Amino acid sequence: MSNIEQTLSIIKPDAMERSLDGEIKLMFEKDGFKIAKEKKIQLAKHEAEQFYKVHETKPFYNDLCEYLSSGPIMVMILEKENAVLSNRKLMGATNPKDAEEGTIRKKFGISIDKNSVHGSDSVDNAKIEINFFFKN
Ligand code: CMP
Repeated sequence: MSNIEQTLSIIKPDAMERSLDGEIKLMFEKDGFKIAKEKKIQLAKHEAEQFYKVHETKPFYNDLCEYLSSGPIMVMILEKENAVLSNRKLMGATNPKDAEEGTIRKKFGISIDKNSVHGSDSVDNAKIEINFFFKN
């Protein structure tokens, strides 16, 4: 039985700044993802705070929101069988130091903050995050 899902992906400022968006999108496509929608935007700090609200009690929350709003980002809806899990595998561990060979964060990530990509961590959060960026 097929289980086509959607997940939200963000190419973060560190990767956009290095013009890695084309290469990262190719990695998604080679892994079988369809990019259903995409847009390049820059968030205001208060929008980044809303997006990362689940992390609001964490010590890194302020820096994280400063960083996500520091430059342009590419937001995408990715579609594939088991897209949420599949994207998490392709991204690799949150900290690029721990990411496996062949993953996006291993290849391009600089640090735990500048880890090049974000991806939804569950199907429920994917719906919330997609709705945050792509309200029709
Ligand atoms: P992301 O998948 O976008 O979700 C939250 C982000 O917080 C995460 O990637 C990291 O870039 C960032 N972050 C910074 N410090 C930490 C930490 N100690 N643990 C987890 N995430 C962190």
